Amino acid sequence: MRIFVTGGAGFIGSQFIRDWVTRFPGSPVINFDKLTYAGNLANLAPVAGEPGYSFLEGDVCDKDALLEAIPENADAIVHFAAESHVDRSIAGAAEFVRSNVMGTQVLLDVARERKVKRFLHISTDEVGGTMDPQEWFKEDGKLDPRSPYAASKAAAEHLVRAAGATFGLDYIITRTGNNYGPYQFPEKLLPLAICNALEGQRIPVYGDGMQIRDWVHVSDNVRALMLLLRHGRAGQTYHIGGGVPRTNLEVLAMLLSLVGQPQSLLVRVADRLGHDRRYAVDISKISAEFNWAPRIPFAQGLRETIQWYQENQAWVNAVRSGEYRTYYQRQYSQLQQAKHTGSAGVI
Ligand code: NAD
Ligand code: DAU
Repeated sequence: MRIFVTGGAGFIGSQFIRDWVTRFPGSPVINFDKLTYAGNLANLAPVAGEPGYSFLEGDVCDKDALLEAIPENADAIVHFAAESHVDRSIAGAAEFVRSNVMGTQVLLDVARERKVKRFLHISTDEVGGTMDPQEWFKEDGKLDPRSPYAASKAAAEHLVRAAGATFGLDYIITRTGNNYGPYQFPEKLLPLAICNALEGQRIPVYGDGMQIRDWVHVSDNVRALMLLLRHGRAGQTYHIGGGVPRTNLEVLAMLLSLVGQPQSLLVRVADRLGHDRRYAVDISKISAEFNWAPRIPFAQGLRETIQWYQENQAWVNAVRSGEYRTYYQRQYSQLQQAKHTGSAGVI
C-alpha cells in the first residue's frame, strides 16, 4: 500500500508510522505535517532512515502543497493532523476551526482530485459530548460536542460523511477514547502527571477529579487503525477504546503509587470551563466485526509508559525547553538530506 499520513509527527500519528514501517518495511509512507508545537520529528527518529518513509513539511489547509504531495491513486490518506488539546481550544478556537475543519475539507477535495482510494479519518469520542453515568456512546449516537475542540472534530466528521454521500468517497471514521503511551506531549494529563511525579512536582487536578475518561494504549489504537484501513467497511464509523472508563483521581492515584510518590502531590485547581464529566465509548462494533480488543491492560500500559518517560529524559527535556523545535529538526534534516539529495523543500 502507498499511504499518505497527515499529522505523523504528533503522538498517535508517529506511533502509527513507526508501527507501519516496522510491520510493512519498504512500503511507501509519506508523513505530511505542519510541525506545530505538537509536531516533533524526534518521534520519528527510530524510522527516519528506513526505506519507504519520507517526510514533507506542510499545512493541510494548503491545497497546492497537498496536490503536489499526494500521489495519484494513492491507496489511502490517514488523517491525524489536528489541533488536539481541549484547554488550548478554550483559550482560542480559531486555529482549531482552521486546521481541523478547513484542513479536513481541503484534504477531502484533494483526495478526490488525486483519486485516493480510501480516506481514514481519525476522530474522537468527545464528539458525543458528556455521557450519563450508565450511558455508552455508540457509533450511531447523536453528536453533542461541548468544547470548541470537540465541535471542530464533529464538523470535520460531517464533512467526511458529506464527501462520502455526495462524491462517493470511500471513507472510514474512527473515534477513540483517551490515548496514552510514549512520545505524548506533556500538556495532556498523563504525560504531564508522569513528568511532574518523577520530579516530585505537584500535579494539577481540575475540579473534583471525578471526571471519567476511557484510556486506551496508543499501540492498541494503532493496531485497530491498521485493521480498519485494510478491512473496514467503507462509509462506516468505528469506536476504539480501552473498555474500562476511570476517574481522573483513580488514574492519578495508580500513577503516584507506581512512581512511589505521595498522594499529597495532587493539587486541586480551578475546573476546566464546560468540563465534560464522562466519556465512555462502546467498542462492541469493532469487536464483533474484527474480534478486536485492547491487549494492553491499563496497569501494565501505565507502568511501561512511566518507564519510557524515565528512560527518555532527553526527549522530555528537549520538549520542555523548546529545543525540540530546532535541535531535533536539524539533526533529522541532516539524516534525511544524506538519504535523498536534490529535492528542495522535500525531505
Ligand atoms: P497531536 O497534537 O500530538 O499531533 C497533531 C499533529 O498534527 C502534530 O504533529 C501537528 O504538527 C500536526 N498538525 C496540526 N495542525 C496541522 C496542519 N494544519 N497541517 C498539518 N499538520 C498539522 O495529536 P494526537 O494526540 O496525536 O492526535 C491525533 C489525532 O487523533 C487528532 O486528530 C486528534 O483529534 C485525534 N484523537 C486524539 C486522541 C488522544 O487521546 N490523543 C483521542 C482521540 C482522537
Ligand atoms: O477523549 C479523547 C480526547 O482525549 C482526545 O480527543 C483529545 O485530543 C485528548 O486531548 C483527550 O482530551 P481530554 O480533555 O480528555 O484530555 P486531557 O489529557 O487534556 O485531560 C484528561 C482529563 O484530565 C480531563 O478530565 C481534564 C483533566 N486534567 C487535564 C489536565 C491537562 C486535569 O485534571 N489536570 C490537567 O492538568
